Amino acid sequence: MKEIRFDFNNMLDINVGNAHGVGKDDILEMAKDISSGHDHLRGLAQDSRNRVNLGLEWMVLPYQKSKVVLTIKKLGDEIARKYYNVIFLGIGGSYLGLKAAQDALAVPYYNEFAKSRNNRPRVYFEGNNLDPDTISVLLKNLNPKKTFVVVISKSGETTETKAAFISVEGWLKKGVGKNYGRQIFVITDPDAGSLRKRVTQENARDSLSFRSLPLLKGVGGRYSEFNMGLLHLAIIGVDINEVFKGAKDMDKKCSISDYAKNPAYMYALLHTILYKKKSKPLAIMMPFAEGLKSTADWYVQLLAESLGKKFRRKINVSYNGVEEWARDKGTAVNVGRTPIPCRGTGDLHSVQQNNIEGQNDKVVTFIRVDKFKNEMKITVKGDILSGKGFTELIKLAQEATEWALVRESRPNCTIILPEVSAYYWGALLFFFQMATAFEGELLNVNAYDQPGVEGYKNYMYTKLGKPGISREIAEEINNNPLKKDQNYII
Ligand code: PA5
Repeated sequence: MKEIRFDFNNMLDINVGNAHGVGKDDILEMAKDISSGHDHLRGLAQDSRNRVNLGLEWMVLPYQKSKVVLTIKKLGDEIARKYYNVIFLGIGGSYLGLKAAQDALAVPYYNEFAKSRNNRPRVYFEGNNLDPDTISVLLKNLNPKKTFVVVISKSGETTETKAAFISVEGWLKKGVGKNYGRQIFVITDPDAGSLRKRVTQENARDSLSFRSLPLLKGVGGRYSEFNMGLLHLAIIGVDINEVFKGAKDMDKKCSISDYAKNPAYMYALLHTILYKKKSKPLAIMMPFAEGLKSTADWYVQLLAESLGKKFRRKINVSYNGVEEWARDKGTAVNVGRTPIPCRGTGDLHSVQQNNIEGQNDKVVTFIRVDKFKNEMKITVKGDILSGKGFTELIKLAQEATEWALVRESRPNCTIILPEVSAYYWGALLFFFQMATAFEGELLNVNAYDQPGVEGYKNYMYTKLGKPGISREIAEEINNNPLKKDQNYII
């Protein structure tokens, strides 16, 4: 069976020059960090206490029992049989993985063509914004009696998801009547949060109302596709076992201590060197496949929330090996590459100009697909395109982009996917998760928290009068209002 490969030729000084490429010495300088990063990560992976406490339980998600997969598959099939539409509500890590899967693994134009999607339900995503337009139009047009709703929120408190859920719930209640709760499924924390509380109340009244699945402890939103995304996969008919198989095979490859054989380590290492030593803070993720654009969006969250950090990590290890991580508030470091999602070939006609001639401050990661599910040949005679297939053309465009970047000494690398199948997509996600975890080790930051996201949430909660906001936070917000001088608004 073909494997995913990582081509890093164009990251090296031999191809893009010493000022913009990685040399052997750069790598040798990192030898100590690589080996301690490996030892630390593997140690954490093997200790369930540390995995759960620190947020690394994602490492074992592909190894979930087949009984769990079977239960979810049955549930997905049941929902798919009974309903024409499914609305998924969620944001951030409770949305991006599902959307990535939808676009990569379901047929293009999924909602449009019932036969192509094997008559499975249409799928809609809401609650990933507070824009009133999309949700209003959706609810005006769908039939509540034929619609199932899956609400996903780890905390059970997120404003966007909550606002959408309250609206959708009201709509269902009005359209379906007293048993409307049987058309709602909740994926949330097993114990905490207002969604969980609601599930408990509803279940006590009617065991078929607000059925739910628990999110596993120690799995943060952006690392949770193999947990909270499973019901979605089952509803659209994706083989979860294949996704897990791909992830497990990738896990094997990404556990090897030798960085020269470990694609995740090599990816993290080269990007870290280019970021730290060659002034490359921008990370362009550019799949050459329409269906992988949302996977690039998913990666944006993974990289930005995991590594964009103000403080380094301070590790305290107790006598029994249990670790606690704190923010080392000594000096702010403000690290982290900035991810930018792109797509080939469309964005060759927009952002590519800047990639080639703008500031040389970026690294482009391509995802190349070797074999597409369909092929289109150009049969008309007398054109330079005559006889060519679209696959050949898209591959040529990607190769041409690499060439153009190299000519301008712009570092880039390519992840080669044999095809976009459940197996390879599972492997791809796991690869990125491992690479990000390892990059977190090299930067010595906590790759599993997101304190920066709390600022806006706290501001909203304070203004909305949510109970439980600490006095300190409320004071900070109320005593430091935004300054809006009308002279500066023209
Ligand atoms: O990665 C994360 O943890 C966040 O981006 C969350 O996924 C996002 O804020 C949504 O949170 P929740 O699932 O609690 O609604």
